[in-house]
Amino acid sequence: MVTSFLRKMILGKKEKFLFKGYQEGNINFKDIDDETGLYIHIPFCRSLCPYCPYNKILYDRDKAEAYKVALIKELTLQRENLKDKKINSIYIGGGTPTLLITELKEVIKYIKVYFNFKGDIGIEIHPKEVNEDLLIHLKNLGINLISLGVQTFDNDILKFLGRNYNNHDIDKAITLVKSFNFQCLDIDIMTNLPGQTLEDIRYDLEKVYSYNIDQLSIYPLIIFPMTKMQKVIKEKNLSRLNEWQERKVLQVIDEVSKEYGYDRSSIWTYGKTHNNRYTSVTRESFVGFGAGASSHFGNYFYLNTFSVDDYINALEEDRLPINIVNFMTDREKMIFWIFWRCYDGIIDGKRFKELFQKDMQKEFKLLFFLLKFLRLAVEEEGKITLTDFGRYVYHFVEKQYSIHYLNKLWQDSMEKAWIEEIKI
Ligand SMILES: C[S@@+](CC[C@H](N)C(=O)[O-])C[C@H]1O[C@@H](n2cnc3c(N)ncnc32)[C@H](O)[C@@H]1O
Repeated sequence: MVTSFLRKMILGKKEKFLFKGYQEGNINFKDIDDETGLYIHIPFCRSLCPYCPYNKILYDRDKAEAYKVALIKELTLQRENLKDKKINSIYIGGGTPTLLITELKEVIKYIKVYFNFKGDIGIEIHPKEVNEDLLIHLKNLGINLISLGVQTFDNDILKFLGRNYNNHDIDKAITLVKSFNFQCLDIDIMTNLPGQTLEDIRYDLEKVYSYNIDQLSIYPLIIFPMTKMQKVIKEKNLSRLNEWQERKVLQVIDEVSKEYGYDRSSIWTYGKTHNNRYTSVTRESFVGFGAGASSHFGNYFYLNTFSVDDYINALEEDRLPINIVNFMTDREKMIFWIFWRCYDGIIDGKRFKELFQKDMQKEFKLLFFLLKFLRLAVEEEGKITLTDFGRYVYHFVEKQYSIHYLNKLWQDSMEKAWIEEIKI
């Protein structure tokens, strides 16, 4: 409902967003931006967490080897399209990417040899996977940004979330990672976990900041209908804070972050310094590799098949594993950009002009009038900044986007390897 209302109001578009099954030739890869990032998805985990919507299967050594061969083949098939591009960042997400650290060595080496890469390499790490050998490996691969998936310091809740570690393991993991002085250590924490109180959330915040980390990513637990979470919470009759109480959570996060000297760098991240960030989703242009990886450049947003077997088979047949493509109109592309700038909390009119040669506020008169009229945003020197209330509303919109838009896209993609069409 929220998304269709916004679609009508902002885009004047009645029809749903359309994703069409990919056919060879219907993406013009020449539209890839001159400077772009890469995303590599590693869909393997040792165990499956009941709340997690991301594409993953249980780790299998032989399949991991075949997956590596497929990844390198996908990179090879895209070499011609990326040969004149500057690759300014590589993010490796999962699943649990470090399960394939040996395979990733070959993948990263391939990128460094055949692509014009200069920039950051970020990887997500599961706390239970942290050990000295792994960190030495990461350093040797030139990985400088780390995102550690801690979630909470509450042992009971960790157990409930299916996390096979406790807060003592977390302490060891953070201390060891810090001793390696990576450029940026980001820690993922989730809030409004079942049974959690505001005091519990404040405890997790003070605890995580006591490690003097570089960035905190703090996500409200989003109950994706495609996961078992809703059913488990119901069966165990567990409580959660309601939407309005979540506003209080955002205020507590702001307060404690200020106390520890951390500034907000997006709707859900706080950093110690402005330019040292771990952020894959907010990049303006990225090309994804792997089963379930997404890509965005030009007027395209597309997803690779989520099926690991079909991904491997497609590449064995020298076929790009692209499953569904959303061809955006220019207006949709501008709104896609504004949507992710709202995630950053700042929408820069000058950058909009650089990208689209248009005046942002003339182009989306109603949107910016309402943002300011409803005190969701303020304007300073051509930059639109979300107010605290604006942030709270965007927090709500982002969750609705996940529950109604992403959930449909990912669930259908997990149920069917190759899709003709999805309307959302
Ligand atoms: C792609 S996941 C991968 C992390 C890694 N596999 C791990 O579990 O540590 C990245 C982050 O998304 C967040 N996340 C996962 N499921 C979520 C959900 N249902 N709601 C909100 N955040 C979620 C978690 O904080 C997680 O660390």
